[in-house]
Amino acid sequence: MSQRPVREVSTREGYDLWSSIYDTEGNPLVALDSLVLPPLLGDVAGLRVADLGCGTGRYTSWLAKRGATVTGLDFSQGMLDQARTKLPDGASVTLQQADLTKPLPLDDGACDLIVSSLVLEHLGDLRPFFAEVRRICRPQGRAVLSTMHPAMFLRDLQAHFVDEQSGEEVRFESHSHQISDFVMAALSAGFSINALNEHFGEEGLASGNPRMDKFRGWPMLFVMDLTPSQISV
Ligand SMILES: C[S@@+](CC[C@H](N)C(=O)[O-])C[C@H]1O[C@@H](n2cnc3c(N)ncnc32)[C@H](O)[C@@H]1O
Repeated sequence: MSQRPVREVSTREGYDLWSSIYDTEGNPLVALDSLVLPPLLGDVAGLRVADLGCGTGRYTSWLAKRGATVTGLDFSQGMLDQARTKLPDGASVTLQQADLTKPLPLDDGACDLIVSSLVLEHLGDLRPFFAEVRRICRPQGRAVLSTMHPAMFLRDLQAHFVDEQSGEEVRFESHSHQISDFVMAALSAGFSINALNEHFGEEGLASGNPRMDKFRGWPMLFVMDLTPSQISV
């Protein structure tokens, strides 16, 4: 466990503070997520995609470079400012400040694909969020959602970074949901489950990331691949 002084802040303040170093400070969970999600997303050319909690635009820019039309939503202005700096020329991207605990600023069925990575652990109540994801997903669409694995909370871990100036570990408000909470929120919203995956830390998994080694054999990331249930009437 960290010996550093800990400072607890709200989620939004935490990400505003983290934004300038988020992409470069070598967070092992972010590194693992970067290995897992892109192959799952597949060919996104021509798709209308929402990146919910888009942060610094890791996936917004990845999707836009591959021909998707992307709406990136996030409530942290600091993270959105970083995202703006990395959009490819001519990209079809809208970045908008929005709180994911409120109704989303997208029409019913507006998206072919919804991506949300490492965000669910910050939402206290999962069900309204999943209901909104289902609302904006077209009937033949898909949602791919990743989150910090619940087992990470057993190690007293939550989203955080080290402020090199103050020496403090800055922790942001996070919520420990169980796998059953995610599954039930998805089913109640009207999704079917294509796949659930749990990803473990492995030595050298994200090469050059020594912070990954201490998670060897430990569940780090949980990923849901969802599609709207086809209910015949
Ligand atoms: C760990 S970052 C992930 C960013 C990006 N998806 C990625 O994978 O790099 C979590 C993001 O969720 C955003 N977030 C958390 N709670 C939110 C909320 N209620 N409304 C909007 N954004 C939120 C944060 O501002 C932050 O940018």
